[in-house]
Amino acid sequence: MNATRNLKNDHITIRRVKDIAQKCSDRLYADRYVPIEDVEIISVIIEEFVDHFHHGKEEKAYFPDTKEKNGFAEDIRKFLIEHELGRRIAIMLRRELNEVKEKRKEQSKHKTNKQDPINMEPIARFLKSYAVFIDDHTAKEDRFFDLVDEKNVITNEEDEMLLKHYEMCKNQAGGEIRIQEMVVLIKFLEEREWMKD
Ligand SMILES: [Fe+2]
Ligand SMILES: [Fe+2]
Repeated sequence: MNATRNLKNDHITIRRVKDIAQKCSDRLYADRYVPIEDVEIISVIIEEFVDHFHHGKEEKAYFPDTKEKNGFAEDIRKFLIEHELGRRIAIMLRRELNEVKEKRKEQSKHKTNKQDPINMEPIARFLKSYAVFIDDHTAKEDRFFDLVDEKNVITNEEDEMLLKHYEMCKNQAGGEIRIQEMVVLIKFLEEREWMKD
């Protein structure tokens, strides 16, 4: 697999994360139950797999290498801005999630018969925003990657270097085993009861 197809391949996995985030958001908006632990897993996958690992490969290896070619700089500049947007949504999702967990803890400390329902709307909103971000961003990048492939602008030598650089990015993101764990977690979520109806 070449360096461009490697990223396109990640996008296939990332769009599975999008489907999970979207479904989870729809359910929360409909006031239906999703275990908070599962939302936490989505948040971890976004942080580690999408942002740290995949965006890491693009930002540290692929984009710096293709930036100077064929007037791609403008496209890449936009992609980097979009990464920042994604990162901001992920941070806000994490913040809300921590708050809900905190409230749950408080509620279980002061057990009363009647507990205030916890507002899940912000979590639903940020999950939805992230799903939209993935949809839009991966579609644009896929078109860009096709163009790069079409124009044959990456030499075999560069390709090899990029793949080596990806390995370093993988190690920075926790290594092969952690990345495999991420894929297992995605599958785990896909098979949850709440994903199926
Ligand atoms: Fe990207
Ligand atoms: Fe990407």
